Amino acid sequence: MAWGLISEMGHLAVQTSRFDESVFDATEVLGLRETERSEATGTGRTSYLAAAQVHHELMYLESDHDGIDHIGLVAAGPEALEELRGRVGAAGYEFISETPLEKGIADGFAFIGPEGFVYEIYIGMQPLAAERGGFGPDRFGHVNLHPVDVEATKNFLVDVLDFRISDIVGDDFAYFLRCNPDHHGIALIAGKGSLHHHAWQTQSIADLGKLGDRLDRLGRRLIWGPVRHGAGHNIAAYFVEPVGDVIELYTDLEQIYDDSRPPIVWDAADGGWFNRWGVYNGENFRSHGAFPVLPSAARQFEKRTQS
Ligand SMILES: [Fe+2]
Repeated sequence: MAWGLISEMGHLAVQTSRFDESVFDATEVLGLRETERSEATGTGRTSYLAAAQVHHELMYLESDHDGIDHIGLVAAGPEALEELRGRVGAAGYEFISETPLEKGIADGFAFIGPEGFVYEIYIGMQPLAAERGGFGPDRFGHVNLHPVDVEATKNFLVDVLDFRISDIVGDDFAYFLRCNPDHHGIALIAGKGSLHHHAWQTQSIADLGKLGDRLDRLGRRLIWGPVRHGAGHNIAAYFVEPVGDVIELYTDLEQIYDDSRPPIVWDAADGGWFNRWGVYNGENFRSHGAFPVLPSAARQFEKRTQS
């Protein structure tokens, strides 16, 4: 089997008390397409959004809460999906659904992983041959989590979900992990248990400038960038979205085609892993984030199984 049991970062689902503002940021600032909108009774509206030609790479779920509903990962195939289902069960994680949490997905399951983050692992997302908009990224790229216990989440990703370690910073300070040639699909930096950002790939640094211009016209600002990172080599720009976490637009991420490439180890005291072009060390930057909340789909699932 090429690479590991997870083949792609799939999507992120976010609960938002400011639904219209969240969808505005995704469509008018970042440049995603809204592929479907559902007005489910009792649970509020759901917006499905994508950059690539799939049903969704981002979901906003209207909610009384602000936070991370779930992280969606694509299994390499039906056999990999079953292997992962067995591994997650054997590792003792609590399943919250034996089927996909939302529409547009053929098969999958969901469980509560380390530090309360819900992971949905699936295959067979509905393709969507939608027209590209006037601007916007190519696809969903990665998430950056700030676990309290970085080593525990790293071990979960490596031992259970079959990720590879690309870069290590300091003594359990940060790990960058990959599931395919992208340098990182999930990055971990020691923190308070939040998701810091979700990141979207584009082709050119010029697109990062245009993002800054769109924010400027709205009277808003990037919080950092464009900047060249050391770990991952990506050039990135960042803005804060309504629920409090950060959205990254990036280009020129390192691609690792050698599956056995040993991890690069960085000294945490040397800021070069973080910032190649300047001296800012990201203290205010890392104060943003959104915490996991119980998935709204799981609440419905619980109701279904109780009745
Ligand atoms: Fe990132």
